[in-house]
Amino acid sequence: MFGSKAVVGLDIGTDKVKAVQLRKKGGSYELEKFGVADIHPGGERQATGSELQRLKVSAVRRAIEQGRITAKYAVSAVSGESIIVRYIQLPQMPEAELKNALRWEAEEYIPFSIDEVNLDSVVLGRTNDNKVDVLLVCAKKDLVNDHLEIIRAVGLTPLLVDVDSFAFLNCYEATYHPGPGDCVALVNIGAGITNINIYVGGTSRFARDISIAGDAMSTAIAQKTQQPFAKAELAKHAMAAPVAESGDGTEEEESSLISSIRGTVERMTGSDFAEDSGDAGAQKAVRNVLSNLVGEVRRSIQFFENQSGGATVQRVYLGGGTSRMNKLPEWLSSELELPVELLDPLRGFSVGAGVDQGLLGSAREHLGVGIGLSLRKAG
Ligand SMILES: Nc1ncnc2c1ncn2[C@@H]1O[C@H](COP(=O)(O)OP(=O)(O)OP(=O)(O)O)[C@@H](O)[C@H]1O
Ligand SMILES: [Mg+2]
Repeated sequence: MFGSKAVVGLDIGTDKVKAVQLRKKGGSYELEKFGVADIHPGGERQATGSELQRLKVSAVRRAIEQGRITAKYAVSAVSGESIIVRYIQLPQMPEAELKNALRWEAEEYIPFSIDEVNLDSVVLGRTNDNKVDVLLVCAKKDLVNDHLEIIRAVGLTPLLVDVDSFAFLNCYEATYHPGPGDCVALVNIGAGITNINIYVGGTSRFARDISIAGDAMSTAIAQKTQQPFAKAELAKHAMAAPVAESGDGTEEEESSLISSIRGTVERMTGSDFAEDSGDAGAQKAVRNVLSNLVGEVRRSIQFFENQSGGATVQRVYLGGGTSRMNKLPEWLSSELELPVELLDPLRGFSVGAGVDQGLLGSAREHLGVGIGLSLRKAG
């Protein structure tokens, strides 16, 4: 009975709910069923508090219906800047003592009372000098309880609450089978949050969530062009990241000269350059958000490399809905001076006969976290 219980991987994002059901097939997995649903009807973003909870519950129901998912158990995740992830080293000790020691350690890292948080830890490995590397994750109980409320409201039984960033990493491991020498940065760019997770030596060694992603771009476009959010969102989907056109450098130099002259004029007149209405304004708004985002990714990679004892990030894998932006991998690659590619969350997996191929085509990049969650208990 228990061995066969079906599980749904439920990714409740800022913009969309993704519900994924996998099953073991041969030595790999099959995407058996999946569904996607928008959280915000009409695309606007005013809802907060209990209204937002209600919208999320409704979207989970629709995603499950769309995927014709009948599983009664859910594996899901929380995310965001309030989740604290730390990598610490402790002397080797029995497990019960380790749990205790971690509580003490956690008190040092979290800006609120230890009673207000859920604590979790994973032993990542043992060092040569008799120490253990431990991953410590703290999430506020309020956040986890609100999250569990949604899952129970649709009649599902929560089996496990993970963290988006680690679910995405789990998907990467199961689909790319990295070796111990691989060192990659996983960057999942959603609507509200970008998860950065650096994988090396067979495990995660750096994780951070930042609140710059697709919504920040749409909000910037909406402000710049005086449009409602939903319209700005559509305009964004038609745009591309600002990849330099020619390879000889002259055009790039020219355009940066022009933009610096423009910047000077703007400072002098206190207003935006005339060209900044409409499309050019939207482009500029997106460019600003993108450069803030890449700045955070770059800083994270540098921070990791400086404290990793020599490990160097070799490649970046992108996921999340915002990774679908035209030219984004190319642009990030030139900014970070690293190879950047889209992560295929179904690499090496088969796809069930009942799956709608058209829907899968438009949702693939959104599914990394949901697949990573579903993998936790599939089969
Ligand atoms: N073609 C596209 N170009 C740019 N952005 C896109 C495109 N298609 C989808 N997006 C963006 O993808 C985002 C949704 O992605 P995703 O489903 O990964 O987010 P989420 O999981 O709901 O949010 P989060 O993980 O941040 O909580 C939206 O901001 C949407 O505008
Ligand atoms: Mg997400």
